[in-house]
Amino acid sequence: MKQEGFYYEAGSQLDAKLLIVMTYVVTESCIKCKYTDCVDVCPVDCFREGPNMLVIDPDECIDCTLCVPECPVEAIFAEDDVPDAQREFIALNKELAQKWQPLIERKPAPADADEWAKKKEKKNLLEK
Ligand code: SF4
Ligand code: F3S
Repeated sequence: MKQEGFYYEAGSQLDAKLLIVMTYVVTESCIKCKYTDCVDVCPVDCFREGPNMLVIDPDECIDCTLCVPECPVEAIFAEDDVPDAQREFIALNKELAQKWQPLIERKPAPADADEWAKKKEKKNLLEK
């Protein structure tokens, strides 16, 4: 498990260095869309599934970026690039990842996912 967002790269004592590893964050656009294309490409299975959204476990994400272009609604951002209006999702991903179960295979999206993909204001619909 990652510790506090840092990896220690083992090597000789002299060239050992500390690497900062960012996490990726699922934001509002995922709510009620849950396409799950992201899940199939994650090499470390760090997506967690809630009733109407996925989150990323920040303790497991290895900053590989593979999931970002997979999401049809562009819900996934690097932690440092999360838009101001979506910053609360950084803490929500962390909190809900402790509670929700891993999803490791893609599954069918909700029947009305394409309708919800057009809607922007969905925070109040998040089911925890
Ligand atoms: Fe998984 Fe990589 Fe996306 Fe992190 S950035 S959630 S490791 S696919
Ligand atoms: Fe959600 Fe996009 Fe993944 S809608 S489930 S973050 S592909």
